[in-house]
Amino acid sequence: MKTVNTALTPDDLLQYLIDRVIAVTDALTGSIMIINPADNILEIRVSRGLNQKKAAATRLKIGEGITGRAAQAGKPLIVNDAGQNPDYVRIRTDLVSELAAPMIVNSQVIGVISVDSNRKNAFNEEHADILMSIADFAAQTMEKIRLIENLRSRIDDQKCLLDIARILDDAADFPVMFESIMTVLSRHPGLRRGMIVLADEQNVLRTAGGYRLSEQAIKRGVYRPGEGIIGSVFTDGKIKFIPDISRSREFLNKMKIRRSPREKNSFFALPIKSQKSSTGGIIGVLSIEKKFGGENDAQNVIELLTIICGLIANRIYIFSSARKEKEELLDQTRSLKQELIKKDTGNIFFGKSSQIIKLQEMIGIVADTDATCLITGETGSGKEVAARQIHYKSGRWEKPFVGINCAAIPENLIEAELFGFKKGAFTGAVNDRRGKFLQADEGTLFLDEIGDLGLHLQAKLLRVIQEKTVEPLGSDESIRVNVRIIAATNKNLKEMAEKKTFREDLFYRLNVIHLPIPALRDRKEDIPLFIRHFLAVFNKRHNRKIPNLTLQAEQALCGYSWPGNIRELENCMERAVIVCRKNTIDIQDLPESILAGAMKADSGPLKLQVLNEMKNHASGNIYNNIITKVENILLEEALINADQNQKEASKYLGIHRNTLRQKIKELGL
Ligand SMILES: Nc1ncnc2c1ncn2[C@@H]1O[C@H](COP(=O)(O)OP(=O)(O)O)[C@@H](O)[C@H]1O
Ligand SMILES: [Mg+2]
Repeated sequence: MKTVNTALTPDDLLQYLIDRVIAVTDALTGSIMIINPADNILEIRVSRGLNQKKAAATRLKIGEGITGRAAQAGKPLIVNDAGQNPDYVRIRTDLVSELAAPMIVNSQVIGVISVDSNRKNAFNEEHADILMSIADFAAQTMEKIRLIENLRSRIDDQKCLLDIARILDDAADFPVMFESIMTVLSRHPGLRRGMIVLADEQNVLRTAGGYRLSEQAIKRGVYRPGEGIIGSVFTDGKIKFIPDISRSREFLNKMKIRRSPREKNSFFALPIKSQKSSTGGIIGVLSIEKKFGGENDAQNVIELLTIICGLIANRIYIFSSARKEKEELLDQTRSLKQELIKKDTGNIFFGKSSQIIKLQEMIGIVADTDATCLITGETGSGKEVAARQIHYKSGRWEKPFVGINCAAIPENLIEAELFGFKKGAFTGAVNDRRGKFLQADEGTLFLDEIGDLGLHLQAKLLRVIQEKTVEPLGSDESIRVNVRIIAATNKNLKEMAEKKTFREDLFYRLNVIHLPIPALRDRKEDIPLFIRHFLAVFNKRHNRKIPNLTLQAEQALCGYSWPGNIRELENCMERAVIVCRKNTIDIQDLPESILAGAMKADSGPLKLQVLNEMKNHASGNIYNNIITKVENILLEEALINADQNQKEASKYLGIHRNTLRQKIKELGL
């Protein structure tokens, strides 16, 4: 026997064995048939002396022909006169004798080696013995080949897994990831199609990725739990293997894929199990269709797919926890945003007067409704602050608060500002523009100075409020909007309605909830509060550290009538913080108008000042302390006026020069 070296292919080796058998048994033809595990049919693997085409087409059932019977019996069979034997299957017309011996591995018949002759009585027992020993050798060779092939395919599978693991690490999103997994899998020999379905929120399985599936097929690939093989794997979690789908009744072919009748395809479906230990539920199904490759191959495929399912589940878990983390972060940002809004003093409606406390309560009540509000009050009284407060206390707080000042924009532009326009609606409309209504969608629209809106636009506004749709200029399309409207004015709309300068119907619409904000002069107890508030705000803004203001200054501010309300007070405080040269804001840091007003105020400031100062001293110390303070101020002012000339100052004060000297010494001036 020639030594068998590695350059030989398995078929070369089998071919060599056939030639040896023919030579030893003095036969004319010979073949090795192997049982295809897919259908248990003998197919010719190598042959000699036979028409190759015919040989390739020859398929025998176990038990069919002499070869089939040898396979069935597991023993060699001799036919020496084919004409007498009905079992004989003739491949060549001149053959009359046949000797067949089964190839057995681990007591399992895997094929048959047979020789034929054109002579009658060509084979005897001795030939049969020789053939049996060669058949054994061939069987072992086949088994080795199978093991090597198996090993090779396992190595390929390992490579495939490595590639998939890499894809899972890199993939940024699911569709890309599933697509790539399928592409890698397609390197597996014989893969025809593949699909990953995942359950959606309604527990309906939908295609998340596919290989060799058309768009339509993917659209059709929707399964309810329990429906078909995929649906049942999803419900019972068991791996499903169908050796031949053409013979399966279970196989739905929902995707309506046409398959050649000659193809023998197997189907594998495996559950993708959630990695969340708490649920451990099934989240999807991985399925593939591939050329049948025998039981062993099926085992390998299942092993490979099981690992892939695990990898996918792991990835999904990581994805979803990342999403959860993102949502948590979003939640955090949301609450931080809320905190910021709360801290942004522009959004806080301050006040401790009873009127403001009532107003705050009212704001709290109306905030969570979508009711239209009308805020009235003098300029600077806080109408916009109140409107913002309503918005930020409402469920719309995260959506935009959009304001428009109807008095500040020319009448002919307001319409476009409010409702938007289409490109080309008028000269200059070079692009589409979303109006304030659309900008405020789902949020709040603040219509400031509504009393200044022209009658024509009042009619249009009323229509939008009633119909909840806007039509941009130059467009005939109505767009639905969900906007909460808050209007504000310092005018008396009721009076205007009576005089027909404001539409009565619009007035009633807006006036559903009326929030009147009292003038600052009518809630004087809020003044000190705002003084402290603005002092803090402007110290910070201008980098100053002025802790307080003098009694006189505070007195002056409290006595003033504030026609410009809080805005005026705010401006006044800012100016004071900027101009103040000392540690305390004093009356000289305040505008003339305020001082003049304070002088006219009814309660004498000196008396108030003294009364206030009295509070600063313990009983028994009051007289000397206050008199000393007054003396101090008096002498200091007199000296300043006299340019530090003591003689002149004492004359001015009407006291003796020595007395003045004495006092200066005592007071340390
Ligand atoms: N209740 C209030 N709490 C805090 N700040 C206020 C309050 N009322 C008014 N302001 C401040 O006064 C200024 C004027 O308020 P604003 O709402 O614009 O008045 P209006 O819209 O009535 O003219 C703003 O700078 C605002 O910050
Ligand atoms: Mg305003």
